[in-house]
Amino acid sequence: MTPGRETPGPVTLEPAHDRREAVANLFQFYVHDFADFWETRRVELQEDGRFPPYPWLDAFWADPQGEALLIRAGAALAGFVLIDRTAHSGQDCDYSMAEFFVARPYRREGVGRAAALEVLGARPGLWEIAVARRNAPALTFWRAVAADAAPSGFRERDQDDERWNGAILQLVIPDRSPVTGG
Ligand SMILES: CC(C)(COP(=O)(O)OP(=O)(O)OC[C@H]1O[C@@H](n2cnc3c(N)ncnc32)[C@H](O)[C@@H]1OP(=O)(O)O)[C@@H](O)C(=O)NCCC(=O)NCCS
Repeated sequence: MTPGRETPGPVTLEPAHDRREAVANLFQFYVHDFADFWETRRVELQEDGRFPPYPWLDAFWADPQGEALLIRAGAALAGFVLIDRTAHSGQDCDYSMAEFFVARPYRREGVGRAAALEVLGARPGLWEIAVARRNAPALTFWRAVAADAAPSGFRERDQDDERWNGAILQLVIPDRSPVTGG
């Protein structure tokens, strides 16, 4: 927790499939952050001062297996989570953390960690989390989250091919739903 900051309040998640404009707006900040991590200048600002709509986002909304969530810190909109089934490793997975974002005013307050643990814990199965090579803060973040989320630990591999350049974490989230019946 950064000294002098108030705790942001409970971290909650809500479905975002009908909040596409909010996700697209937050994506502007995401792209701005990622400009530090991409090896080349992938996007140019438009004359209106925005980045162009991210082409991948349209593909995401069309993916029936895609799931979008908004992150709230207290009452405030604080970020988003996009989940799909695209395994950058080329191996099978049940879920892939496609994009994950906490806006800067809410960072280093545990918001990302709480949101990530909630997302993972609610979706048992084999997860894949790919982290771009130059995104060192995210790798620190995901290693800590994965270690806490997966009792059996996580596997990390380094990949450098046309599918992905960076670390790929694979972890199994157990099903903790209560056994009913009898
Ligand atoms: C990475 C990101 C999601 C972290 O969100 P956050 O809410 O700030 O993370 P938390 O406060 O829950 O951090 C939990 C732990 O992760 C690690 N961590 C988080 N941000 C870090 C940073 N910038 N540098 C080093 N470690 C970091 C720390 O161990 C931290 O614990 P600490 O604050 O007690 O030291 C956020 O910085 C972000 O959205 N970045 C831009 C988008 C991005 O990179 N997304 C991930 C794509 S794979």
